[in-house]
Amino acid sequence: MKTILLTGGCGYIGSHVCIELIQEGYEVIVIDNLCNSSIEALKRVKKITGGDISFFQNDVRDKSALLKIFKKHSIYGVMHFAGLKSVRESLENPIKYYNNVVGAVTLSEAMAASNCKSIVFSSSASVYGNPYTVPIREDFPLLASNPYGQSKLIIEKLLQDIFISDGQWNIAILRYFNPIGAHKSGLIGESPNGIPDNLFPYVSQVAIGKRPKLKIFGGDYDTHDGTGVRDYIHVVDLAKGHIKALKAMETKSQSLIVNLGTGTGYSVLDIVKEFEIVSERTIPYEIVSRREGDIAVSYTDPSLAAKKLNWKAEYELNKMCQDACRWQSMNPNGYN
Ligand code: NAD
Ligand code: WQD
Repeated sequence: MKTILLTGGCGYIGSHVCIELIQEGYEVIVIDNLCNSSIEALKRVKKITGGDISFFQNDVRDKSALLKIFKKHSIYGVMHFAGLKSVRESLENPIKYYNNVVGAVTLSEAMAASNCKSIVFSSSASVYGNPYTVPIREDFPLLASNPYGQSKLIIEKLLQDIFISDGQWNIAILRYFNPIGAHKSGLIGESPNGIPDNLFPYVSQVAIGKRPKLKIFGGDYDTHDGTGVRDYIHVVDLAKGHIKALKAMETKSQSLIVNLGTGTGYSVLDIVKEFEIVSERTIPYEIVSRREGDIAVSYTDPSLAAKKLNWKAEYELNKMCQDACRWQSMNPNGYN
């Protein structure tokens, strides 16, 4: 049985990946400082899977803690989720976000010292900035327009340089589009602190009556209804993409960069309509001015993921909204 270390494994995406890994027969170790998550998520993963998880409450920038974990366990590979992820906060406090780079450097040092050379890294479509056209392919120009996206780009470069210096490494850089939804059990999902920045948690809270109305940022984009278009991907599909990346690395030593999205774009108003269908409620909304830094349209060309990982997203928008609504109504205050 292979052991995978997940940094940030208590978070939204990491907790869903834990489930898929356990169900695929991997042993799972999680390190998380719990700065944006709750240990309750792992308890629920155990409940869903019946599996066990070793947990270490540590910061990924703490090299001696990492070295101890690598020494104690025979770790086949790492999935690196740990990091801060708010674009808005990164513009207000860039130094905090360049700590994402410190985490990746410390982790790579500990991995190299422990001869663990396989890593899957959570990158983001934000590395493309405002693309000159859509769908977005992996070879498009990289133009991150905020410190969060910059930190992802620097980490991508770090990992690629490590591979160039030592071809025994296995590196999979996964650029996520807009992960949303929740596990079908309704037991785990996205649990943002305070007022959500992102559309799905916000609209889910409106759908259950926790917030009065959605503010739609911009109704004058060059899109089919004037609102922003994104490639929303079910978090369980995304999690399955990680297993495929791991399998691809198991068969051949390589350095991969792959977009993970569905290839279909939906507007904010498309999402509102779908939430009205699944929640059987009207979603009150108001169209306000554009949010600074937002782009009109973003969706991926999913063909490289199909070719390199033999992976394709399966879940439709209806299922994404249903699962988001179930999670939100079963857990109106998230894990709190
Ligand atoms: P999340 O905040 O729910 O999970 C991140 C986890 O990392 C949290 O549990 C947090 O406590 C932990 N963490 C943060 N800094 C840490 C540190 N220094 N040491 C140890 N643990 C630390 O976020 P998520 O949505 O699950 O995202 C996971 C990864 O995917 C992040 O790297 C994020 O940038 C990336 N990503 C997310 C999205 C998205 O929309 N959710 C999109 C693209 C990329
Ligand atoms: C989606 C659409 C908004 C909230 C961000 C990061 C990206 C990645 C995913 C980490 C846009 C509109 C939103 C609201 C709205 N994260 N919106 N009202 O901005 O595409 O991507 O999360 O890597 O890096 O930038 O996602 O969910 O914030 O917005 O109208 O209250 O919904 O304008 O068109 P975004 P989002």
